Amino acid sequence: MAKDKADRGRMGRRTFIGASVFGFIGVCLLATVRFFFPRTLFEPKLKFPIGYPADYGFGVDTKYQQAQRIWVVRDASGIFVIFAKCTHLGCTPDWNENESKFKCPCHGSGFDSEGVNFEGPAPRPLDRLKVSIDAQGQIVVDKSVTFGGQSIDEARESWKNPSSFLAV
Ligand code: FES
Repeated sequence: MAKDKADRGRMGRRTFIGASVFGFIGVCLLATVRFFFPRTLFEPKLKFPIGYPADYGFGVDTKYQQAQRIWVVRDASGIFVIFAKCTHLGCTPDWNENESKFKCPCHGSGFDSEGVNFEGPAPRPLDRLKVSIDAQGQIVVDKSVTFGGQSIDEARESWKNPSSFLAV
């Protein structure tokens, strides 16, 4: 009777040790497999086409606001692209067609259709992005190159750079 109890105790210990060893090996295998499939963050492309100049009429086009956080603006001088990031603390303003201004919902900064700040706490104009025309005639925006400044005068000077607008 006492021998049976001892045998059962030994079997229980063996089962426990076996399960622990297999568990450990299983965790090691999973970790090894996971190593070969690292978590990858898929960032949106910094350079992308947005269609042809003829696709954009006079005024502010907001169709890429959600997907790319940009506005495409055509005025008398041509086409330029504004980065939709408030220069106060980085919120995304909205284009208010009736008042013809970009209005930041966070703290109330206002920018005119050129991106120049005129109300609220934003300290400087909105940045513009590099634009070019590719071989197919499409407008290509490059978010890695910005044009702007710490003051309105500085920004206006920067916006004279031929890469900051398309004279089309
Ligand atoms: S983040 Fe736009 S006004 Fe503060």
